[in-house]
Amino acid sequence: MKIAVIGTGYVGLVTGTCFAETGNNVTCIDIDEDKVNKLKKGEITIYEPGLEKLFLRNLKENRLFFTNNLEEGVKDAVIIFLALPTPPGEDGSADLKYILGVAKDLGKLIKAGDYKVIVDKSTVPVGTADKVKEAIVMSAVKFSPVSNIEESFDVVSNPEFLREGVAVEDFMKPDRVVIGTKSEKARKVMGDLYAPFVRQGNPVIYMDERSAELTKYAANSLLATKISFMNEVARLCERMGADVDMVRRGIGSDDRIGKRFLFPGIGYGGSCFPKDVQALVRSSSEVNYNFEILKAVMKVNEEQKLFLLPAIKKYFKNDLKNKRVALWGLSFKPNTDDIREAPALYLIEALSKEGVKISAFDPEAMNNVKNAIGDKIEYSDNQYDALKDADALIIATEWNEFRTPDFGKMETLMKNKVIFDGRNLFDLATIRDLGFYYKSVGRETVN
Ligand SMILES: NC(=O)c1ccc[n+]([C@@H]2O[C@H](COP(=O)([O-])OP(=O)(O)OC[C@H]3O[C@@H](n4cnc5c(N)ncnc54)[C@H](O)[C@@H]3O)[C@@H](O)[C@H]2O)c1
Repeated sequence: MKIAVIGTGYVGLVTGTCFAETGNNVTCIDIDEDKVNKLKKGEITIYEPGLEKLFLRNLKENRLFFTNNLEEGVKDAVIIFLALPTPPGEDGSADLKYILGVAKDLGKLIKAGDYKVIVDKSTVPVGTADKVKEAIVMSAVKFSPVSNIEESFDVVSNPEFLREGVAVEDFMKPDRVVIGTKSEKARKVMGDLYAPFVRQGNPVIYMDERSAELTKYAANSLLATKISFMNEVARLCERMGADVDMVRRGIGSDDRIGKRFLFPGIGYGGSCFPKDVQALVRSSSEVNYNFEILKAVMKVNEEQKLFLLPAIKKYFKNDLKNKRVALWGLSFKPNTDDIREAPALYLIEALSKEGVKISAFDPEAMNNVKNAIGDKIEYSDNQYDALKDADALIIATEWNEFRTPDFGKMETLMKNKVIFDGRNLFDLATIRDLGFYYKSVGRETVN
């Protein structure tokens, strides 16, 4: 099948590559010329485990193409995916300017009688499929008046549930595929496209466009709720002398609750949860619904990003000026270079204001942070270099390589044996034996 994917970021590049992997002919389109030039030359533009191998193979086998030219990219495509940004607007709602702008451009290109399925893969508010359809029709009618343009395309909602860090695996073997359309014709095209991905029997769930759009927001909001809930339980544990790790295990073994997404920490970040929860609250208010739980989820998360700060201040007796802190982890979660809404950035901001000197290390995200904040902090070549003369170590992201470090080496490099761990990486008894001061989340402080 000939497919076009508009927007070649984290979702678009994975989507395009994985569809090429099952034999489709895929053209990815992006307005960023630099990005497209790199991709054409075989230079991958994001870090995502397993993606580069697939990307290079499909590029070599002439199934994966890149262009800046929308007309060239969508020509002959039966399915056109929109994997465009939907950032929060000023009022917190999802800004649809990228989606509707492209829809308008597509309207100029769609020809009567040449059926295409336009797919919203971006996370978009309920009603967006209707808006995309309207934008296409309005511009089609304006630019090349034809009578039956509505019959030449369908707009489908096909939200993406991949997780950065395991995106390829999630895309190739999805838990489920949600397809929102009332069109039988579009349903058949989408079903055929996804058939190779659900051979093991995972469901393709067909529904109407609006339900599909809401499904994505509801899924992300429930996951964010789980995280904020556990972060509040962690706060309680500290006040009540309980251990959140024990409580987590105790409740997670109940099937109704499940083991995943129960790890406390310094809040959720990334390009999805923060903006999607906010957007659902906003669109709820537009239909006069006050989504109270989600408002609390957002508030708890805002506070949680700086959860370690009072403990750091207390340890240094409110004198943080010129203290040297090593920071392990900058990405919003491990196995990605994505730093959007990363808790580490909030910590950097708050600590810099107090006059703290920060020396950071992240296996993949340092370039993105350099581009975002420049030399506000120092960047180290490896996790141990960051520790030289450090008054304390802060851990903000649970990269695997931070889990079993060489504590002996750490001790020789650091000025003080002090760790503030926002991801609960270490066993309390081990760290006590090693003689570190250790503050984590929802557990006893070792000192
Ligand atoms: N990142 C995730 O983990 C994830 C998961 C599920 C859903 N989503 C949703 O998918 C959508 C895309 O997210 P992302 O993380 O891939 O975003 P991204 O910012 O990484 O990528 C978006 C791409 O679109 C390009 N673009 C912008 N305007 C364009 C235009 N007019 N024409 C062509 N290209 C254009 C940008 O240059 C960029 O490369 C969002 O709605 C997001 O909420 C993201």
